[in-house]
Amino acid sequence: MTTNDRQPATIAVRLLEAAADHDGRLVDHLAGLVNDVYAAAENGLWREGATRTTASELAELIRAEQIAVATLHGRLAGSVRVHDVADDASEFGMLVTAPDHRGAGVGRALVAFAEQHSRERGLRAIRLELLVPRAWRHPSKEFLKAWYGRIGYRPLRTASVDDAHPRLAPLLATPCDLAVYEKPLQTRGTLDEPPRDHPPAERPN
Ligand SMILES: CC(C)(COP(=O)(O)OP(=O)(O)OC[C@H]1O[C@@H](n2cnc3c(N)ncnc32)[C@H](O)[C@@H]1OP(=O)(O)O)[C@@H](O)C(=O)NCCC(=O)NCCS
Repeated sequence: MTTNDRQPATIAVRLLEAAADHDGRLVDHLAGLVNDVYAAAENGLWREGATRTTASELAELIRAEQIAVATLHGRLAGSVRVHDVADDASEFGMLVTAPDHRGAGVGRALVAFAEQHSRERGLRAIRLELLVPRAWRHPSKEFLKAWYGRIGYRPLRTASVDDAHPRLAPLLATPCDLAVYEKPLQTRGTLDEPPRDHPPAERPN
């Protein structure tokens, strides 16, 4: 929850300029945020010592203009990576909201930004990869499956971690699959938008 529930949340999301890769404090702060959030959210999935990213990887992604950040009441509250994965599709990942800013709409705003950014560039769809343990249910992943279903993402395929991320696969502590989800990006004159009297059914997954 926000620390200031009396005021409406003012969330701003922006793509970082490539030159922000030189801002060591920002890069370190973001890398720390992503790693801390993922360490908690993916507890039990990784071997000890494995981290989601590094400052140098994040600097590289910023340079490639793939990192957007959200501020809430002027303070850095979260970030997301968005990049193209096909001629007609992008993917978002590394989605994080700082623990003290949860539940205020920051995650939703970051996903909406990734979608809009991709839509504006004419892409047909946006995807995400969800790392899920093969033999048990992880509470964070169950929450994400339900949420992504609510905001229009549908399962596309299941991918192997070994194939998709060979560097990461040996760091897993438990067998996992990558569930790939996709959402069509609406464009005028298509049937992507459902009729108003037939809203999409919720899919708890
Ligand atoms: C996923 C994550 C970014 C969401 O961030 P957030 O800023 O707290 O999310 P929002 O406030 O925008 O809410 C997103 C949805 O979660 C729901 N939600 C938020 N907090 C909740 C809570 N405590 N209990 C139940 N639902 C909650 C909201 O109602 C909203 O659903 P809606 O869009 O249907 O209304 C955040 O939980 C996080 O950093 N998780 C760990 C990292 C992670 O798993 N990333 C995704 C990897 S694919």
